[in-house]
Amino acid sequence: MSRSAVIERLRRRLGLDPESIGEITLNHAIDEACATLNCPDTAALLQRIDGDEREWQRFVDCMVVPETWLYRSPEQFDDLVRFAREQLATRRPLRILSMPCATGEEAYSIAATLLEQGFGPGAFEILGIDVSQRAIASARSARFRASATRGRSVDATWFDREGEFWVPTGAVQRSVRFRSGNLLQPDCFQPGERFDVVFFRNLLIYLDADARRLALDQILRVLEKPGLVLAGQAENLSAIDTRLQPLSGYGPLSFSHPARATDATAPRVANAGRTPRPTAADSAPPARPRERLQPPVATAVAQAPVDALAQARQAADAGEFGRARELCLQLLEQQPESASAWLLRGLIAMAENDLDEAEQALVRASYLNRDDAESMQYRIALAERRGQPQEAAKLRSRMARMTTSGVRA
Ligand SMILES: C[S@@+](CC[C@H](N)C(=O)[O-])C[C@H]1O[C@@H](n2cnc3c(N)ncnc32)[C@H](O)[C@@H]1O
Repeated sequence: MSRSAVIERLRRRLGLDPESIGEITLNHAIDEACATLNCPDTAALLQRIDGDEREWQRFVDCMVVPETWLYRSPEQFDDLVRFAREQLATRRPLRILSMPCATGEEAYSIAATLLEQGFGPGAFEILGIDVSQRAIASARSARFRASATRGRSVDATWFDREGEFWVPTGAVQRSVRFRSGNLLQPDCFQPGERFDVVFFRNLLIYLDADARRLALDQILRVLEKPGLVLAGQAENLSAIDTRLQPLSGYGPLSFSHPARATDATAPRVANAGRTPRPTAADSAPPARPRERLQPPVATAVAQAPVDALAQARQAADAGEFGRARELCLQLLEQQPESASAWLLRGLIAMAENDLDEAEQALVRASYLNRDDAESMQYRIALAERRGQPQEAAKLRSRMARMTTSGVRA
């Protein structure tokens, strides 16, 4: 009884959808919170966290999932650079929000990317916000274990190696600030605070429907036009709020205000594929060529599967699982090797409670993209949901092994 009251607090104050975490993981986290706060049971825990903000914070630290890594989804950083040059050339400093920032890897990766691409130290400022004070303290300490790279290379120009840690250089650290805040609270942002770009990745997946709408409303309140919002892999923002639309010519997880399409500053698709030069306002050392900057998909033929995937995602986010499944299967007929499509197929099957199908699809997704921690995370969640703790533990250690680091000098 008091366990469900604890879950109710999480729903009310953090907007947490308990199903997004899974019963086993949630119960485990509540037990950990009881131990951390020295409470013999959940009734005592409730007494402790109600009415005492510091204890509530300690509880939150036990419950959240600050899972993140350096350069997570690198193609989104390419969209940031392109948008900053094409749409925000005269806006300095660029104001960038990393929300939620978890332990800071995302914010430092943004800073390193912009410096690498020739944006000067004063040309941008980055603020990271997260509800977990423990995560914020860790972000400020700016030391990342090799596992924070998830096996990807880290640019040694912007991260120093100190023993087993990667440490962002002084220039990177000086561009980034952190503070704690709950996006669902009205005081999360300061009066007049505005941002040009928001990395808004991997929070909505944990929230219930009401909290998703509120969270997006808050983001839209502080997003200056033209505005770029970058979403997490399973998050279709335009299905939740029509004030945001997929940004034409960019990756499927980049969103902006619809009004931009008719604006004189609309994306110059004709330039797609070229790497624009930094503007004079960027006043920075010359940028080294950057292999990771991918040209956007240029032809209608190549665009079609991306659209089909976006449509399937949109249908899934709108709760139209039958349609989403059909679209996804059609796409898989054309592109049987698409890891993203298999991942989405797995998520739809999970939503439909077809757990065997979900498992097959997720296994296929992680087979096709062995670096992809996302599908591995969902496989772990699925194993938990099926009451298979040993399988979950096995997958966790497999995920931990996806951590060999390399150096891009
Ligand atoms: C999975 S991490 C995402 C980190 C990063 N954006 C990424 O994609 O790698 C989710 C984070 O959301 C934070 N969080 C959960 N509810 C929140 C809220 N209401 N306001 C702010 N942060 C929240 C958690 O503390 C956790 O660090």
